[in-house]
Amino acid sequence: MTGKRPSASQIRTAVLTQPDQANFHGNVHGGNIMKWLDEAGGMAAMRHSGQLAVTVFLDSMTFEHPVSVGDILHFTATPTWVGRTSMEILIEVEKENPFTGQRVVTNKAYAVYVAVDGKGNTVKVPELLLQTAAEQAHFDAAEARRAYRLSLRHKLDDSQQNESSD
Ligand SMILES: CC(C)(COP(=O)(O)OP(=O)(O)OC[C@H]1O[C@@H](n2cnc3c(N)ncnc32)[C@H](O)[C@@H]1OP(=O)(O)O)[C@@H](O)C(=O)NCCC(=O)NCCS
Repeated sequence: MTGKRPSASQIRTAVLTQPDQANFHGNVHGGNIMKWLDEAGGMAAMRHSGQLAVTVFLDSMTFEHPVSVGDILHFTATPTWVGRTSMEILIEVEKENPFTGQRVVTNKAYAVYVAVDGKGNTVKVPELLLQTAAEQAHFDAAEARRAYRLSLRHKLDDSQQNESSD
């Protein structure tokens, strides 16, 4: 299985935000942004793995600025780390005022996806070919995020076992 560059699997999507996506403040509802962000990340994971990809963890999502109805939202999803079957994707969101062209970063998140076959069995993914210092730095930092996520998973498993044995 040959490796792939992060840029080869990068996904860029855009959405023109609409009135039916607003919350009661009149801004775009954060849940809609999370959905589009997760979809962009999932597409990058599918492009990297060449398989179906399911979300297994979404963390560190920031909401830095509100998004007004009518803004264009740009999503950029880039693989930062891969393991045996899982992939971490960084998804960055920018809003664009369509009249002035001004762009502002509104959200960032790391999400982890797992490649699966049609029966839901996990599938090995290609390695990530890192060529720049920035790509290597993202990859190294991802190792610490992965350790944290797996420790949370084990804590949750332990607490569920304790509840069922009470
Ligand atoms: C994702 C899923 C297939 C993983 O199944 P599993 O039995 O936990 O499989 P494994 O334990 O072999 O884990 C698979 C990979 O996910 C990673 N993983 C599992 N849970 C994780 C977590 N909480 N955080 C980070 N990585 C995790 C494992 O470390 C492993 O990575 P690696 O192969 O790169 O080393 C299963 O949990 C699932 O189907 N979840 C539901 C997904 C879903 O419905 N998402 C929403 C719709 S897309």
